[in-house]
Parts: sequence; structure tokens; C-alpha cells
Amino acid sequence: MDTDLIKVVNKLQETFSTIGGDAVDLPQCVVVGAQSSGKSSVLETLVGKDFLPRGQGIVTRRPLVLQLVHQPSSTNADGEFAGTSTAAPGPGPSSYDEYGEFLHLDKRFTDFSEVRREIENETYRVAGQNKGISKLPIHLKIYSPHVLNLTLVDLPGLTKIPVGDQPTNIERQIQDLVTSYISKPNCIIIAISPANVDLANSDSLKLARSVDPRGLRTIGVLTKLDLMDNGTHALDVLTGRVYPLKLGFVGIVNRSQQDINGNVSMLAARRAEEEFFKSHNAYKNISHRCGTKYLAKTLNQVLMAHIRDKLPDMKARLNTLMGQTQQELASFGDTAFLGDAHRGTLILKLMTQFARDFVASIEGTTFDISTKE
Ligand code: GDP
Ligand code: NA
Ligand code: MG
Repeated sequence: MDTDLIKVVNKLQETFSTIGGDAVDLPQCVVVGAQSSGKSSVLETLVGKDFLPRGQGIVTRRPLVLQLVHQPSSTNADGEFAGTSTAAPGPGPSSYDEYGEFLHLDKRFTDFSEVRREIENETYRVAGQNKGISKLPIHLKIYSPHVLNLTLVDLPGLTKIPVGDQPTNIERQIQDLVTSYISKPNCIIIAISPANVDLANSDSLKLARSVDPRGLRTIGVLTKLDLMDNGTHALDVLTGRVYPLKLGFVGIVNRSQQDINGNVSMLAARRAEEEFFKSHNAYKNISHRCGTKYLAKTLNQVLMAHIRDKLPDMKARLNTLMGQTQQELASFGDTAFLGDAHRGTLILKLMTQFARDFVASIEGTTFDISTKE
């Protein structure tokens, strides 16, 4: 279950942040793709909230560093990663359990359409009114019971021909900007290609390959499957027969511009997407491996694998802490006074014990949370 990932991560984060450490430093997920390939749309559905400016032409003109912060709900105990849920994503725009905060502004946003407006305003303020790009990021935190503690980055689209205020070397500048994010070995690259353009021309895959030549940390995403020419399909790409990526390709149908204009809800879009794959002759046999929900699951698996890789380190650090605590306790003797220092030591001991048991309890788990056959 996807909910387990949230539980595991939060428990770990809680435990390790109290004893001082960055145990669950999850990788950043970065979306890469040509202009209008659907990057912002994909990111938005992964978060499960309507809050990003989307549209035809150049819309995302500054990097958006989106930090999701899990915050338990005041009403129900367990959150769920909204992007993996078929249920309605979040309780609606006026809920106080979910809100956004920008680094550049001292204000709490509970209405996510206002978050979108603020991103637009901040973009204009720094990158101008005329299609200019700035590498200065906008920092946004979203607090919600429905998210993992995770950082997602939305980037300006790869482009070739300068327009508006863009300099003549715009292609190079955006490539450099994108590369600065995706070259970090700890970064998961969500490489987006629109299905209605030949994959051989995919700039996102080209760039991803330059920093991840073996395709180990790149998830391929094929958007706009609904816009392919009649009689054509992308089954070969989706089943990995065209381009090798260890994490594979996931097909997606996002909201069209018409859907966006008509305020089609995220839930309705998700249902339409599911229906598209189930009823499509080419995709119905692999429909369980298609769509936004499956993409979120794939991402969860990658994150789980990351946590598993880190377990030995965590255990080593815990053992050190345990040793120190025991020494400290011994130095107090049996009839120690009940001062703050002593109480603190006891609490630390209990906590490390708990953390050790906890790590041991998830160590044997396979983390296979997918519904793969
Ligand atoms: P970005 O520029 O890469 O961030 O792309 P956006 O998410 O802003 O989307 C660009 C345009 O393509 C918008 O008008 C979207 O509605 C549209 N779009 C994105 N994905 C799809 C899709 O899967 N199907 C359809 N029909 N339109 C899409
Ligand atoms: Na766009
Ligand atoms: Mg965008």
C-alpha cells in the first residue's frame, strides 16, 4: 500500500530528526521536457492539487522548488500520498490542514488558486512580462497530510528558438539550468516526452542521458497519448522496446487546454485517464501499468529502494548513539539525581532503542508496494 510509504518515511524522519540526523534525505525529483510537453501538469497531478500555472507556450519561466511537508491531519490520523489515491485529492481549497508558503512572502495560502496567482506574479516580477527566463528559483512549501516529505522541481521547458526577451543562446541557457539540477547523483529525473512527437527527437531523454548514461535514475513519461494520430499508438515505447530505461516508461493523459479552461477537476481527469487506457485497444492489456496513479507508484518504489539503501548507515549511526548513551548512563551511577541532564539521557536511551527496533522491523520488508504482476 502506498500509505505505508508515508508511514515509514514519517516515522523515520520523526525518529532521526529528534536524535539529530538527516536519515531520510529523500532524493529530489525533477521534471524535464520540452516546452508544453506537460511538465507542470504531471507535477501537479503527482501532488494532487491544482496550483501550478499551466498552458500553451512558455508558462514556467523560473525554476519552482516545491518542498512537500507532511503534516498530520487534525481530523484523521493517517495521510495518504494524494498522487497515488483514487479518492478525491484532499479536502478542498479551504481546508486548514493544507496550505502553501513561499520563501519570498510572509503569508499562509489556503486557497491554491491564490498559490497559482502568486507563482505567476513572482514570475513576472523577476523574469519580466515578455517570455524571459530566470534561473532564480521560486521556493514553495506545501504542508499537507496527503504528501510525503519530498522535494519536486518544475523547470522551464527546453526550447530552441528565442522568443520575446529571450537571449539568442536561450537553448544553451536552459540546458545549463536543467543540467545544474539533474546532474546531482541523488536526483530522480522525470523525463517527459509528448507522445505526438517522435521519441528520437526527445530533448528530455537526450539531456537525461547526458547525466544518467545508463538510465538508472530516469523515469520516462509519455504525455499526450490522447493526441496521437488516429491508428497510431506508443505501445512499443511503453513496454520498453524502443528506449532502455531501468525504471521504464509510463504513459499519461493530462488535462487538455480545453479541460483546464473548463475547470475539469483533478478527480474527473484521473477517471477519464483510467478509462482512456482501459478502453484503448493498444493499451488495455497494460492499463494497470499506465497513468498518473501508476507513475506515483513507480516513484514511491524508487523512494523506498532509496530508503532501503540507506538503512545500513542509519543502523551504524544508531549503534554509535547507543554506545554513547550507555556510557553516559553508567557515569551517573544507579542512584543518579533526577535533574534535566539525567532525564534527557533517559529519553535519548528510550528513543534510540525505539529507533533501533523500528529499523530492524522494516529491514526485512521487501518494499514491493506496486501492483505489478
Ligand atoms: P509544460 O510547459 O511542459 O509545463 O506543460 P503544461 O503542463 O503547461 O501543459 C502544456 C499544455 O499542454 C497545456 O495546455 C495542457 O493542457 C496540455 N497538455 C499537457 N499534457 C496533456 C495531455 O496529456 N493531453 C492533452 N490533450 N493535453 C495536454
Ligand atoms: Na507550457
Ligand atoms: Mg510548465
